[in-house]
Amino acid sequence: MGFYIPYSELSERARSVDSAITSLMEELEAVNYYNQRADVAADETLKAVLIHNRNEEIEHAVMLFEWLRRNIEEFDEDMGTYLFKDAPITEIEETATGGGSASGAKSGASLGIGSLRK
Ligand SMILES: [Fe+2]
Repeated sequence: MGFYIPYSELSERARSVDSAITSLMEELEAVNYYNQRADVAADETLKAVLIHNRNEEIEHAVMLFEWLRRNIEEFDEDMGTYLFKDAPITEIEETATGGGSASGAKSGASLGIGSLRK
């Protein structure tokens, strides 16, 4: 994604997080590209290949989300709050926090950065 802080100053953990997030962005970009190309593909066989490829990229993206969940506590907390629920998304937050940020309410954090697992 690019380093805002000189690479040499970053911890191994921060380097790993950057690698995961950059890779996730690339996978999601690929999902978007394949999805758009499949949407306009006139050839049905090509459309099927593009959809197959899009779905492979979704798998890659989800694997990276799982790595982030396992390595950044706030991802785990927020995924636990929001994912696989049937209620309207904004109502999930209100129910979990009484109106505040889900991760902030649970961890007491006031910044969006959150803590990284050691
Ligand atoms: Fe991929």
